[in-house]
Amino acid sequence: MIQSRPWLAGFPNAAGRPFREVIAMIRPIQADEVEIALEIINDAAQAYKGVIPPDCWEEPYMPREELLSEMAAGVNFLSFLENGRILGVMGRQDLGEVTLIRHAYVRTTAQRRGVGTRLLANLRQEVSQPLLVGTWAAAWWAIRFYEQQGFKLVSPGEKDRLLGAYWTISPRQTETSVVLADERWFNQGRL
Ligand SMILES: CC(C)(COP(=O)(O)OP(=O)(O)OC[C@H]1O[C@@H](n2cnc3c(N)ncnc32)[C@H](O)[C@@H]1OP(=O)(O)O)[C@@H](O)C(=O)NCCC(=O)NCCS
Repeated sequence: MIQSRPWLAGFPNAAGRPFREVIAMIRPIQADEVEIALEIINDAAQAYKGVIPPDCWEEPYMPREELLSEMAAGVNFLSFLENGRILGVMGRQDLGEVTLIRHAYVRTTAQRRGVGTRLLANLRQEVSQPLLVGTWAAAWWAIRFYEQQGFKLVSPGEKDRLLGAYWTISPRQTETSVVLADERWFNQGRL
């Protein structure tokens, strides 16, 4: 079922004249939107270039086959649309006792306008399990984004344990990543 949550918002146009209508919506990504999702992920992932360790950077950052295999492994994506154009995507992977946030990306030109916040709020409404997210240790802006949403970094030891338990990544990626967890996780007394 397609779930949509439209918003209407007015922004002054460039000439400062009357407001133009913006229709924003969050809904699951559609089968024919994989290419657009790829474009957004690989555009937004440019932020990592020159920041994460060079041996961890690949171009394209997310090959098509990898995205398809992630989706086949149960990563479900929400997309944020503004006037019918997808500006951001955020995936989630339900693993029973926890849900992972996987692959959160907002077009470079649309970042820091609240798109990621709205995607995360929408995802949270649909999930009752503790949320975990892994990202590059060097991606300070992403850490800041999640901290602003109430997530906290887990300890290095717990990070290694969680990445081993819930993610399928290389030892090198484990070494260069961090994990943040939401309040539900910490409230369960797991540190
Ligand atoms: C991280 C990301 C998904 C957040 O989405 P967004 O729509 O830009 O975020 P929002 O506008 O909802 O929230 C903005 C907050 O995120 C953080 N943030 C996001 N991008 C930032 C940047 N380039 N510089 C500094 N802070 C940034 C800040 O805390 C910011 O709050 P502020 O503007 O009040 O300082 C998006 O910026 C992105 O795609 N970044 C590149 C890829 C990436 O790091 N993905 C995360 C994978 S886990």
